[in-house]
Amino acid sequence: MNKTDAAYQKCINPDCAAEFDCSSAIGGFKCPRCGELLDIWYNWDKIHVPDKLSDFAKRWANKKGPLDFSGVWRFRELLNFCPDKYKVTIGEGQTILQQNDAVAEYVDMQRGCLYLQYEGLNPSGSFKDNGMAAAFSHAKMVGAKSCICASTGNTSASMALYAHSCGLKSTVFIGSGRIAFGKLSQSMDYGAKTIQIRGDFDDCMRQVQNVCTKLGLYLLNSLNPFRLEGQKTIMYRILEGLGWDVPDWIVVPGGNLGNSSAFGKAFLELKQLNLIEQIPRMAVINATGADTLTDLVNNKKLRWNNGKVNQAVIDDYYADLTALNFSPHTCASAIEISRPVNLKKCLRAIDICDGVVRAVTDEQICDAKAIVGKFGLGCEPASAASIAGLKHLRAEGIIGPDERVACVLTGHALKDPNVTVNYHKQKQGQFSNPPTEAPNDLDEIIKIIS
Ligand code: F0G
Repeated sequence: MNKTDAAYQKCINPDCAAEFDCSSAIGGFKCPRCGELLDIWYNWDKIHVPDKLSDFAKRWANKKGPLDFSGVWRFRELLNFCPDKYKVTIGEGQTILQQNDAVAEYVDMQRGCLYLQYEGLNPSGSFKDNGMAAAFSHAKMVGAKSCICASTGNTSASMALYAHSCGLKSTVFIGSGRIAFGKLSQSMDYGAKTIQIRGDFDDCMRQVQNVCTKLGLYLLNSLNPFRLEGQKTIMYRILEGLGWDVPDWIVVPGGNLGNSSAFGKAFLELKQLNLIEQIPRMAVINATGADTLTDLVNNKKLRWNNGKVNQAVIDDYYADLTALNFSPHTCASAIEISRPVNLKKCLRAIDICDGVVRAVTDEQICDAKAIVGKFGLGCEPASAASIAGLKHLRAEGIIGPDERVACVLTGHALKDPNVTVNYHKQKQGQFSNPPTEAPNDLDEIIKIIS
C-alpha cells in the first residue's frame, strides 16, 4: 500500500488489520487475507478538512457546480478517497430534515423534539443513492465495466440508475416474490438484467458473492466500503438541518446494517476531527420477523469488544437458522434479512454511539407508516420501523420526551403501494382510511361526502 495516499482500505479485524490502497477493487470487498469486512481509513493530515462544519454549508450557494450541489460531495473532504474527475453525481442527497409535531405526539414526545430525515427524496427514491454516488465514483476510478448486487429492491433500483448514468452494465439478484413492485419496476426500467432467484435475500446475497468472485464483477452491496462512505453524509445533513447541532438520538431501521455502520463511523470521525463535541446515541430497529441483530445483541449479548467479536456465537446462531430452515418474514420487505453482512460494523457503531437495538411488529410498522403518511411526506414500511421503534423506546423510558431525536426515513412512500393499499382497504390498522364505494349518481355521491 502507498502510505502517502490520503485514503486506504483496512481490514476491521484487529488481528489482521491488513491495508490496501483505494485504487484496487478487492473481489467481493472481503479482506483477501482473513475474509473480514473492509473499512476506508483516511490520513487526515493529508486532507484539508474545514475547521468547522458550517463551512460546508457555503457550497449550497453554488448551484452550477455539480459536486457542490450534490448532498454527498458537498462534504467531499470527509470521504476523500478519489480525485474529483472520477466523482459521480446525479443530484443525490437533496433531502430534508423536517420537524414533525404530529408524529412526535404519536410517539409521546414533546413538540419540537422529533425530526424526520426524508431520504425518499433521492433520485431513485431511497437513501441508497448516497452510497451509490460514492461507490460508482470508485468503480469509475478502478475502470469497472460491469456491476452487480443482491437486493430487497432499493439497492437494485439505485444501482441500475447509477449504472446506466455511468455506462456500466448491471445485474441484480432479487428473491422471487420478495420485492415491492415499485422497486422491481425501477430496476427493469433502468435497464438492469434482473434475475429473480428462487430464495430469499440471504440466498441472493450468498450467490452474488460467489458470482462476483467467479466473474470479477464490481459488487455494489453494502459490503462495498466505498458505498458506506457515501451513506455517512446522511448524518452530515441531519447536523446541517439542526444548524450543526448534534441530536440526542438517531433512530434507523436495520436490515443489512450498512446505514447504522456508516452512521457510527461518521460520528467517530467527526469527533476525532473535533468537528462535533459529542456523539449522539443510536437506536437500530429490526422487524420482529427479521430480528437477528436484536436477538444477538439483547439476548446473546454479542458485543464489538474492540473488534474481537465472538464469532462462535454468530456461527451457532446461523447454524440454528439453517437447521430450522428459517426464512425471515415481514411486510417491511426492505429489511427482510436474517444474515446481515455488516453485523460486525454495526456492533462497532453501537459501541461508538452507546446504541440500543429493538424489534417492532408488522402491525406497529404499518400503524407508524400510516401516521407518517397522514402527517408527513410518507415513507415505505421499512422506514416506518424507525418511528415504531422510537414509540417503543419512549414507552420504555429509554428515550426521554424532551430529547432531540432524528428518525431516518429511508425510502419513498410509493416504493411499496401494495402494503399501503392493503392496510387501508382491509381496515387492518388503527389508522386505516378505506375508500368508499359509490354508485354513479350525483345525489348519492354528495350524501357520502357530507
Ligand atoms: N430501509 C430501506 C428502505 C431499505 O431499502 C433498506 C435496505 C434498509 C432500510 C436497511 O438498511 O441494510 O443499511 O440496514 N435495503 C437493502 C436493499 C438491503 O437491497 O435495498 P441497511
